[in-house]
Amino acid sequence: MNGDLRPVYRLPLLILGFLALGLGVGAGLARLGWNFPLPSPTLLPLHGPLMISGFLGTLISLERAVALGRLWAYCASLLTALGGAALIAGAPVAAGAGLMTAGSAVLVIASLSVYLRQRAIFTATLALGAASWLAGNALWLGGLPVPEVAPWWAGFLVLTIAGERLELSRFLPPSRAAQRLFAAIVASLLAANMLTHIAPGVGRQLLAVALLALTLWLSRYDIARRTVKESGLTRFIAVALLAAYVWLGAGALIGLLSGGMFTGSNYDATLHAVLLGFVFSMIFGHAPIILPAVTRFAVAYHPAFYIHLALLHISIALRLAADLWGDGGLRGLAGLLNAGAILVFVLNTIGGVVRGARAGRRVA
Ligand code: HEM
Repeated sequence: MNGDLRPVYRLPLLILGFLALGLGVGAGLARLGWNFPLPSPTLLPLHGPLMISGFLGTLISLERAVALGRLWAYCASLLTALGGAALIAGAPVAAGAGLMTAGSAVLVIASLSVYLRQRAIFTATLALGAASWLAGNALWLGGLPVPEVAPWWAGFLVLTIAGERLELSRFLPPSRAAQRLFAAIVASLLAANMLTHIAPGVGRQLLAVALLALTLWLSRYDIARRTVKESGLTRFIAVALLAAYVWLGAGALIGLLSGGMFTGSNYDATLHAVLLGFVFSMIFGHAPIILPAVTRFAVAYHPAFYIHLALLHISIALRLAADLWGDGGLRGLAGLLNAGAILVFVLNTIGGVVRGARAGRRVA
């Protein structure tokens, strides 16, 4: 199992991931009262798992397998994609959760293998992110409700993104003291997640503090602060990243001022500031680079990419305002616009691939 998987065979994994995204967003819309045609109402409570493990987990595992270039590493993506498909097909939740847990275990092994090849703080952060995902999936499989595993799932995404940003800063490496501070923030985030099961109030507050500290660290050391002065795609990516930090900070601040992350009356606001505002802005920024690396199809940048980016940020601002004001009608509208931003992103990206193909650009 030493060879790599040819790009054409990666496409089914990508398609299953996007199917989970489509139905995951649909389940979220249905929870807001929109009449989205879901194959079954049993998908309503599965919105979170489909988004996190079915879509993001499948894509992140696929990207890590491509980076590792080992056939076995693709099992992570395959298992989570099948887990998502099983949930969509109406299989028992334990079957989908079991496949997703197995997939995340393979990602942990793949990430440890990357760490052993290159012992660095960013590879350690990626491995800890994968371990956080495994913890969340295993607890969910064990019967814990979603709100109790949400800190682990958020930890997976936040640490994966932080690790990847740190990797890119190696050209302008932060000082040793800054790297030690980063390690302390990661450790406190994981400690906070463990604490949520022993002393939930303290754990969720500490998580807000850790996320706020991480926001400040990333905003200070991310090379996006410099690259935002460039033009074209480089600038677009930097704008998306800097905007993502605004939502990570806003989510953490709301959590800090209102009793902690992912709990209470600000459950929806803190969750979606981080999982949609931070994570999806990062995805929008990185997609024109990651998609070609995975599929070998170039994505030609176009200024129209700012449309989905702007729609995402406007719709999240609306959603947070609706959550804070307790305005159900506005929250429903904001949710629809959130979904619209993701749809425009998918269409714009397909447009970028078509333009790239017309221009005869294929990644070597
Ligand atoms: C794109 C449009 C989205 C819509 C319309 C939407 C809608 C919703 C709604 C209505 C809830 C229930 C909130 C509550 O109980 O107060 C929810 C919870 C949640 N959402 Fe979203 N969401 C969206 C995007 C996302 C994204 C991108 C992610 C993850 C990357 C995500 C992950 C979650 C999670 C983990 C929960 C908790 C689920 C639970 O408690 O069962 N959502 N979402």
